[in-house]
Amino acid sequence: MSLRFGRALVAIPGPSIIPDRVLDAMRTPMPNIYDGELLDVSAEVLDRLPAIADTTGHAFMLIGNGHAGWEMVVANTMNRRDKVLVLDSGRFPLMWGEAVKFAGVETEVLTGTPFGPVDPAALEARLAAGPADEFAAVIGVHVDTANSVRNDVAALRRAIDASGSSALFMIDGIAALGCDEYHMDAWGVDVTVGASQKGLMTPPGVALVWANERAVQRGNGNDLRLRYLDWDSRINAEQVYQNYGGTPPVSHLYALREALRMIDEEGGLPAVWARHQVLADAVRAAADAWASPDGIALCIEDLNARANGVTTLHSGSVDALELARRCEQGAGLTIGRGVLAPEHMFRIGHMGHVNPPSVMGTLGTIEAALRSMDAPLGGSGLAAAATVIADGLR
Ligand SMILES: Cc1ncc(COP(=O)(O)O)c(C=O)c1O
Repeated sequence: MSLRFGRALVAIPGPSIIPDRVLDAMRTPMPNIYDGELLDVSAEVLDRLPAIADTTGHAFMLIGNGHAGWEMVVANTMNRRDKVLVLDSGRFPLMWGEAVKFAGVETEVLTGTPFGPVDPAALEARLAAGPADEFAAVIGVHVDTANSVRNDVAALRRAIDASGSSALFMIDGIAALGCDEYHMDAWGVDVTVGASQKGLMTPPGVALVWANERAVQRGNGNDLRLRYLDWDSRINAEQVYQNYGGTPPVSHLYALREALRMIDEEGGLPAVWARHQVLADAVRAAADAWASPDGIALCIEDLNARANGVTTLHSGSVDALELARRCEQGAGLTIGRGVLAPEHMFRIGHMGHVNPPSVMGTLGTIEAALRSMDAPLGGSGLAAAATVIADGLR
């Protein structure tokens, strides 16, 4: 039987729920793009963006998805003769590495464990084994959306410094920005990549890149420049048109401005991170309560390496594809596919515009679907999640 009639809920790790305010902001008729209000909207967004990565460096917004952000970094900082070290922690660093390789740059992967963060000691040892300038860049992710591991970015920087390597340090924060605490400058990151569609509560379609002066200088005269992706012309833009390498993403500018204002209104990023922490703890408490020898288990065991915007679960003997089908077809809830093993894993997105009703609704629906499948369950995830949320409400 289907009970799905009613407002559907999507709890995948991006694109995330878009606030009505943000959707409404996009319903703006196309304006003059050389004069008037759009210039103020653009200026406000570009002014607000550095704070999102906590940097005093440059911020760029380009039309495209996260992949476009990766490519902007390649095009502005790398050369064909360079070598780049890829910090494997699941799936997404490897995909960024593929993009680097595709451009003609040599890559080496620092292999990690399937469900753990990158080991800073292993990074230090690998870098120290070669000359200081062996690698032009070290690339990795803050959160890997596939297994929901969160890397200790500051510790990775310390490892690079301890090794004496001169490599630029580049972090994909696509699944973490607006969910997990992040301080680009204080943590010594040279380049950060983001995208609109996860913690930043804006539809997919714009990528964000932050770069410090060191990265900009290092890229000067590199041989992989592409006109549209060139960040120098954006830094030196005299017109809004040049800030975006062409026609600005008008609707996305209005949307992102609204989303960034909402972050401020909530109390700024510390308040946003604190909300994500409670809700993520609630999801993890539910997963631990559901856990049983032949059933559900959290993928990431290290308590300090669990992301606050996405949780990946092993489904044990439960068919994760059938679970997802029951949630969606029967109850109007879309959960995330377990991309690393679709039949044996699933993911819960709790990023961006989420609150106790959306998270409890998600957990309750999953629990009901699990019970409908006679899944082995240790106990009630919903009760465990409510206890965590109750602490957050005190
Ligand atoms: C951590 C991370 N990096 C990169 C990407 C790729 O972004 P996009 O699909 O917008 O190109 C994703 C997408 O889910 C992601 O989660």
